[in-house]
Amino acid sequence: MMKDDEMINRGPVNISTKKEASALLANSSDTVFTQTNQFSSHCLIPTIDNYKQLYQASVDTPDQFWDEQAKKHLDWFTPFTQVSTGNFIQGDIGWFLNGKLNVSYNCVDRHLKENKDKIAIIYEGDKPSQIEKITYYELYLQVCRLANLLLSLGIKKGDTVAIYLPNTPVAIYSMLACARIGAIHSVIFAGFGFESIISRVKDANCRLIITADEGVRGGKTIPLKKKIDEVVCHCKTVEHVLVFKNTGGHVDFNPQKDIWAEEAMLEQRPYCPPEHLDSEDPLFILYTSGSTGQPKGLVHTQAGYLLYAAMTHKYVFDYQNDDIYACVADVGWITGHSYIVYGPLANGATTFIFEGTPTYPTPSRYWEMIERHKITQFYTAPTAIRSLMKFPTSFVEKSNLDTLRVLGSVGEPINPEAWRWYNKFVGRERCSIVDTYWQTESGGHLITPLPGAIPTKPGSATLPFFGIIPKILDPQTGQVLDNADTTEGVLAISRPWPGIARTVYKSHSRYLLTYMKPYPGYYFTGDGVKRDKDGYYWIEGRVDDVINVAGHRLGTAELESALVGSYCCAEAAVVGYPHDVKGQGILAFCILKEGYEDDENTVSILRNEVRNTVGPFASPDVIVITPSLPKTRSGKIMRRILRKIACHESSPEQLGDISTLAEPEVVPLLITKVLKYIPKTH
Ligand code: WTA
Repeated sequence: MMKDDEMINRGPVNISTKKEASALLANSSDTVFTQTNQFSSHCLIPTIDNYKQLYQASVDTPDQFWDEQAKKHLDWFTPFTQVSTGNFIQGDIGWFLNGKLNVSYNCVDRHLKENKDKIAIIYEGDKPSQIEKITYYELYLQVCRLANLLLSLGIKKGDTVAIYLPNTPVAIYSMLACARIGAIHSVIFAGFGFESIISRVKDANCRLIITADEGVRGGKTIPLKKKIDEVVCHCKTVEHVLVFKNTGGHVDFNPQKDIWAEEAMLEQRPYCPPEHLDSEDPLFILYTSGSTGQPKGLVHTQAGYLLYAAMTHKYVFDYQNDDIYACVADVGWITGHSYIVYGPLANGATTFIFEGTPTYPTPSRYWEMIERHKITQFYTAPTAIRSLMKFPTSFVEKSNLDTLRVLGSVGEPINPEAWRWYNKFVGRERCSIVDTYWQTESGGHLITPLPGAIPTKPGSATLPFFGIIPKILDPQTGQVLDNADTTEGVLAISRPWPGIARTVYKSHSRYLLTYMKPYPGYYFTGDGVKRDKDGYYWIEGRVDDVINVAGHRLGTAELESALVGSYCCAEAAVVGYPHDVKGQGILAFCILKEGYEDDENTVSILRNEVRNTVGPFASPDVIVITPSLPKTRSGKIMRRILRKIACHESSPEQLGDISTLAEPEVVPLLITKVLKYIPKTH
């Protein structure tokens, strides 16, 4: 069901992120970084002119461009008969129509002929000594066995399977096994709590959950099966739970529903013919936060998604044959889907999967992994870079990072200071930094540098990828803004690309309402943006009620609904505030129910409620207890004012007229309280 409050906020660019972005622009001083000829000449796209030619072809003759790319990068069982269809008005987008293919075949089988013994996956567990290397042939056997096991459990094409696993190779086997038989996977990040899992499993009517006994991160074990046991009691559609052994820790085993995965897989034949699927059959659902409390299940389909993931992986990371490519995201997010699993494996790459954290056992962990495995491309989030910058540079300097060529950043705007640190201490000033801007909805990179070809400016995602036509719109009127100098507004895309999500699971109206209706004829990204005189894009952050915390996208409504779910909270409003490591921190304003005191105990009850229902990564950084909230006379919470207070933009001029509020006196009270918890840094 759609809710009224999902109507898109066409208001001005979110103040907190805008402020950060201006600071970012101010200190970037427009320095342009270019690669040496020596570096560029070895790149797949060696010059800016090569990029411009390809880009021009992709927008002038898109069907011809994508026709060639789809034939070059994918293997088809039946060729497609039409390249593209649909537009942003109807939301009826389709690519490579009538073509038949299989994603697991494209990611595994087709590499066997020449690269059977090539390492497909390198895994490092939480402890540096836990290393596994899996060849393409071993991957093939595992995927076939697991696919056959799914079939034996009655899972068939179109059924949905939830995957709640640690970041280990079995997550990759599970995704590919689903893809092999045409089942739709819904990976649920293993950091999500009880309510978040239940709502996702129920929304997609999952028949099976694949999980593990426990996960391990930073030396701590995380019970996964135990959480699924609670979930299963509430989700009637779940017939079986497949359990992988990760730590060997104790689990309660229910023989009616639970199956030990490894044992059952051994009984399965390691050959499973891949299902011939239509280009537009769904491949997976991935939930993401929006403006309402209910996350949206974005649906990606087979061919367009795979092609886009494969091409962006190849060109943005300049992936070449003997590279050892590493993305240290989690498969529970879109970055893991596209750039640990589907993009790299479609390209026959060696991909890396890491279960641990950047600071365990020491803050050298990433750099030691790069040296150990001779990693050539390394992809992480600005929040990880900022957290590692806090340690002495000796932690990074002692590792040999000579193999690195490309360093990627994703998830939020990267501040120039972090960009420069990444470039200097990790890249040793000889790597290409790719600040990749994209979203769960886009399937792959939208605006991004290409190594060797596109000069970079710290803090800018630079120029659009092939086929992407960005437009900057006036947030109020929807008119296209196109100044010769700097242009600022909201970011929209004017033509469908193969990787765009096709719908919201079971709610196409919500898909249209969120992305297509705000600015008819365009896909609305939800981000504010600035374009400079060189045509470079500078992403300013979300303009809706979504905050970006340590690279995780969270809907404030989801957090508010968790808070009011606690027995002591009557009302809650959540906003983001600038945080020096996480990008944005979570600030929750709560009104207590009668009989509860503003003390440590209450605050910890509230915090735990969010940890348990949404997940520990969503735990509020600051909880401010307040007797009331700034509201209009009609009772609407004025989030604009709360956001300003959170960023210390609380002078009378900055706040504007507050006299129309129902209880204006709450504003100075909140300003004082916020100052106590979030000191002004400048
Ligand atoms: C933000 C993550 C600036 C943006 C792949 C977007 C970025 C949201 C960047 C999507 C970047 C992602 N620069 N902002 N390089 N990359 N974002 O769906 O606000 O988890 O809309 O996808 O992250 O987050 P999501």
